[in-house]
Amino acid sequence: MTQLATRDFIDGLPKAELHLHLEGTLEPELKLALAQKNGVDIGQSTIEEVQASYNFNSLASFLAVYYPAMNVLQTEDDFYQLALTYLKKAHQENVRYAELFFDPQAHMTRGVAFEAVVNGFYRACVDARAFNVDAHLVMCFLRDLSAESARQLLEIAKPYQAKILGIGLDSDEHHNPPLKFLREYGDAVAQGYRITMHADIDQVDSIQHIQQALEIIRVERLDHGTNIVENPDLVDWVEQLKIGLTSCPLSNRLVADDMKDREVLELIDHNVKVSINSDDPAYFGGYINDNYEAITTKNDLTIDQVVQFAKNSFETAWISDFQKQTYLAEIDAYVADYLQK
Ligand code: HPA
Ligand code: ZN
Repeated sequence: MTQLATRDFIDGLPKAELHLHLEGTLEPELKLALAQKNGVDIGQSTIEEVQASYNFNSLASFLAVYYPAMNVLQTEDDFYQLALTYLKKAHQENVRYAELFFDPQAHMTRGVAFEAVVNGFYRACVDARAFNVDAHLVMCFLRDLSAESARQLLEIAKPYQAKILGIGLDSDEHHNPPLKFLREYGDAVAQGYRITMHADIDQVDSIQHIQQALEIIRVERLDHGTNIVENPDLVDWVEQLKIGLTSCPLSNRLVADDMKDREVLELIDHNVKVSINSDDPAYFGGYINDNYEAITTKNDLTIDQVVQFAKNSFETAWISDFQKQTYLAEIDAYVADYLQK
């Protein structure tokens, strides 16, 4: 279908969200409300002041704003409210299925109990079933903390494992290669977790890190990861093994001044399963449909091209073949119906 995709088409399209940090959905309004409720001084008291603090232009400068803001999250209910607010928004955007990152260490290192974090987030995922969003949690290790800290986290999470689908790796990639966590990833797989990790864009040693992630740790997905276009062997590898790449155009545009849309389209041409996702929507200026729209309007993408992103999102999700086929059929029915109107 060579018809150009519109925002209206994108809005109604069933899709999966595979790269979203729950802490990155903390909108200024909720941040201020929780700061006041919990008596936390965040140094800003109006929405304008909060927004003025969002002046980052790199991963490091983003993370320097992002982690301190989490201080406002204190109780299980705070985590619940944050996640449920996001999930309602996801429902409005026709996200049918979601795998959601969270960063327990960012909360535990400031005295919040692991169980408050996981139980709050998990309760929101359960409640979202009432509006037909199937959401799951992916627990990230902070890669700038030690491997020992990640190992302790795995241990602490053991009684809660039924509430956590997979393991991810985020925060500052510089000098924090995948192999730092080789043993912890091995343990995670042995315990039955699915595995992914960030390969942030344009990092020092991006290619080396991606090689470690794919060839040694053998992740099932790569978050961002579009630097593989620099290496044809890696492109072949991810294509053959059907490894999903979760790209986030608006986040890329803010931290690297470039949506990396050319890279995404080149990878799609090589049959790599790239999906479009939102990363930290409260900080990067848009949720998943804004991300779809940004890459679509910049490149005049057709309905077929946009449908490919949504299909890739379900095909690389950690769901059964039956679920994949059901969601793909839902997409086909939506497109057929849309074209008849
Ligand atoms: N990269 C690394 N750490 C992060 C990100 C990201 O895209 N988003 C939130 N924490
Ligand atoms: Zn991310």
